[in-house]
Amino acid sequence: MAEYLYIFDTTLRDGEQSAGCQLSTVEKIRIAKALEKLGVDVIEAGFPASSPGDFNSVVEVSKAVSESVVCALTRCNKDDIDLAVKALQFAKKKRIQTGIGTSDYHINYKFGTTRENILKTAVECTAYAKQFVDEVEFYCEDAGRTDNAFLAQIVEAVIKAGASIINIPDTTGYCLPEEFGAKIKYLKDNVKGIDNVLISVHCHNDLGMATALALAGVENGARQVECTINGVGERAGNTALEEICMILRCHSEVGVDTGIRTKYLVETSRLVSNLMNNPVQANKAIVGRNAFSHSSGIHQDGVIKNRETYEIINPKDVGADKSQLVLTARSGRAALKSRLRKLGIDVSNDINVDGIYAKFIRLADSNREITDNDIIAISGQDVKKVRPVTILRHNVSSALGEGAKAYLKLLIKGEEKEAEATGNGPVDASIKALKKLVGDKMTLQEFTIQSMNRGSDDIGKVYMQVLYNNNLYYGFGASSDIVLASLSAYIDAVNQFI
Ligand code: KIV
Ligand code: ZN
Repeated sequence: MAEYLYIFDTTLRDGEQSAGCQLSTVEKIRIAKALEKLGVDVIEAGFPASSPGDFNSVVEVSKAVSESVVCALTRCNKDDIDLAVKALQFAKKKRIQTGIGTSDYHINYKFGTTRENILKTAVECTAYAKQFVDEVEFYCEDAGRTDNAFLAQIVEAVIKAGASIINIPDTTGYCLPEEFGAKIKYLKDNVKGIDNVLISVHCHNDLGMATALALAGVENGARQVECTINGVGERAGNTALEEICMILRCHSEVGVDTGIRTKYLVETSRLVSNLMNNPVQANKAIVGRNAFSHSSGIHQDGVIKNRETYEIINPKDVGADKSQLVLTARSGRAALKSRLRKLGIDVSNDINVDGIYAKFIRLADSNREITDNDIIAISGQDVKKVRPVTILRHNVSSALGEGAKAYLKLLIKGEEKEAEATGNGPVDASIKALKKLVGDKMTLQEFTIQSMNRGSDDIGKVYMQVLYNNNLYYGFGASSDIVLASLSAYIDAVNQFI
């Protein structure tokens, strides 16, 4: 049976430290509850001494969470620890994480002190924190660049002082995975009492190796990984929770597994991305928009024959929509035929697939990405007959400081319907008008706008994800009118479930 790996999520602390990703207390509570549902063992809720707002967030997250341990971060001083104790007063299960820089960079330049003083402060603070909580985690900041012999000395000392979890961070993401794994092994082999504590690894992504580093730590005895949803975090980020969990799920030979309910990974990723206003890169492993999209003809043909030819994870296992075949100039006839069939266009009789394919390739070469409406048009069909919802008229007006007004006329399953709505801006007003006509039981999950060539006359590409009946639907729209592109993307998603 696989050994258990504890997942320590620091999205609300290290993740929130990343530039532009700040969260309100209410947003942190929402994310904490989602992390609990996901099965995270420990939630690092914040750094109470950093600001009154962060103190308050730790208090409120402590009240909201009951299954996961709530952890508060401190520096190695009594004032920070006192504040953490106070902030954690309502937590059902609590932990304090205290620590100090242990590399010569930190000792000489940040603190201007000696190894002896660092050791003394570390022991004092661990013992002090232990008076208030059972679980004290000690972090050796910049352990990745700390001399192994000194690291072993300080780890042994804080274990004696009461730390039951030892965090070995590669704070600057500098180590090579093998080197970092060897560091964990060195501690296992050279520290008295190490087998009675949990070794944690906390790795940063400065060289794009945060997940590889954490895995190397696990392979050498670490049994807790500190990570964040979408890999957000200071500078280039931290180990991504979804990556380390799925690596262990896919590679049972490592012999270690987590308690993460992976079917909630995508929804948690979307929530964090939305609340942090931080779009997930399209090619992000596991949770990116393209993680299960196939665009080259060879790959598409393989996936149509058997999904596993090009997919090592079943998208359903991580809560993603089924595999997508994206139509681009690299796509083949198999994918085009599959899309035509999905749109209800009969490919067996009157339709000349070769002819459509030739037109499609010409268009794809110039447009890069093809919408369903394009496919319908080049196959000689009437968009209004093939798609349940099409736009007949759309007008918007907006004035600085006065919001916006939209008028929308749609053809819905052959019937003309119209509505007006006001909103915060032209996109909001248009979507509100749309919802008046098609129903409002759907919510926008992701909204990404990209320009193609960067000129002011450019085509805007809009990607949207709409949640309806617990299923995610992707929509795409493209136009030089960005409001129309947004409305079209929403309608593209709606057309898949209406
Ligand atoms: O990267 C780091 O070293 C940290 C510690 C505070 C755990 O975030
Ligand atoms: Zn960190």
